[in-house]
Amino acid sequence: MAEHVPFAAFKHMHAWIYNLHIVPYYRRHGFGSKLLETAESWARDQGFDTVGLHVADFNTAARNLYESKGYQLVDTHNWSCFYANKNVRL
Ligand SMILES: CC(C)(COP(=O)(O)OP(=O)(O)OC[C@H]1O[C@@H](n2cnc3c(N)ncnc32)[C@H](O)[C@@H]1OP(=O)(O)O)[C@@H](O)C(=O)NCCC(=O)NCCS
Repeated sequence: MAEHVPFAAFKHMHAWIYNLHIVPYYRRHGFGSKLLETAESWARDQGFDTVGLHVADFNTAARNLYESKGYQLVDTHNWSCFYANKNVRL
């Protein structure tokens, strides 16, 4: 389990997505959404019911993507926003 704030806000086992990336030429065609859904599906198959991720607070493109997919802001730390795809008890 994570010990550092705000990772410690996540009390249960969860999958974590790092560095979702679509090359610029292919952005805004739904591939980022597809990649996110694929990662969520993989996580579910592994038995994780929560997916967490963090993103820079100024990264509007990524934050819009996560929020449009139902991710909820769990906590912030410096310039990072921590999100989960379901309610996480703090
Ligand atoms: C974030 C990223 C993965 C999105 O990939 P994408 O393939 O463009 O995303 P999608 O086409 O599936 O977009 C889904 C939604 O995200 C939001 N979105 C995506 N790009 C956006 C932008 N430039 N500005 C505002 N909203 C944006 C929109 O709500 C969009 O829905 P819409 O096109 O119907 O309006 C891509 O911009 C990227 O690789 N960025 C650089 C790497 C990065 O910052 N990764 C995140 C690390 S946490």
